[in-house]
Amino acid sequence: MDRSIRDLESFLEKHLSKSRYLHSINVARECVKLAEIYGEDAEKAYFAGLMHDVCKELSFNKQHKLIINSQFEIDEIEFASKPLWHAIAGAVFIRDEFGVTDSEILNAIRFHTTAHGGMSRFEEIVYLADLISIDRDYGDLEKMRELAYSDISEAMREAMAYSILSSVKKSVYLPRQTVEAYNNYLYAKGNNIEVKIKEKQNGKYKEA
Ligand SMILES: [Fe+2]
Ligand SMILES: [Fe+2]
Repeated sequence: MDRSIRDLESFLEKHLSKSRYLHSINVARECVKLAEIYGEDAEKAYFAGLMHDVCKELSFNKQHKLIINSQFEIDEIEFASKPLWHAIAGAVFIRDEFGVTDSEILNAIRFHTTAHGGMSRFEEIVYLADLISIDRDYGDLEKMRELAYSDISEAMREAMAYSILSSVKKSVYLPRQTVEAYNNYLYAKGNNIEVKIKEKQNGKYKEA
């Protein structure tokens, strides 16, 4: 990728509404803050945060064209949920338009709406930066910020729970990856799903 950050910011300023542009800058800054806390590449994090919503204001038609040429696996729920398309479209767009090949950046953008099971720390940073950036405003924001700065896995578990609850309240589909991510973070927290998984062999649960 041979464009400077300033060039990319000008590109976004031209192609996004003012509020979306400012949101992108805020998320990029938040990404740097989290990258510094968790020892990730701050420059790369700024770039991923800056570009995460690059396709959010593109028509669904154009987003659709991008995602059907995607290198990513997309399931039926994502295809049925247009608001999720911009994440996949964004990753394809920066690959094709800006020659980005770094899979961490591409995946962080691709999964910034749904999350997925087994996320990298870098992906978590972009996901949470989007959720806690300075332009956000919701009830548990301060709690989420505190968690993001102190225990990123717990912040992700909380974020997955929040995302699932709000999808259910709005009666919108639950992406499979979000449920997988939720289970993963809960499992990591030491809840006893592990026991059940280990007890199941050859498709059957063993007797206790
Ligand atoms: Fe987004
Ligand atoms: Fe965003």
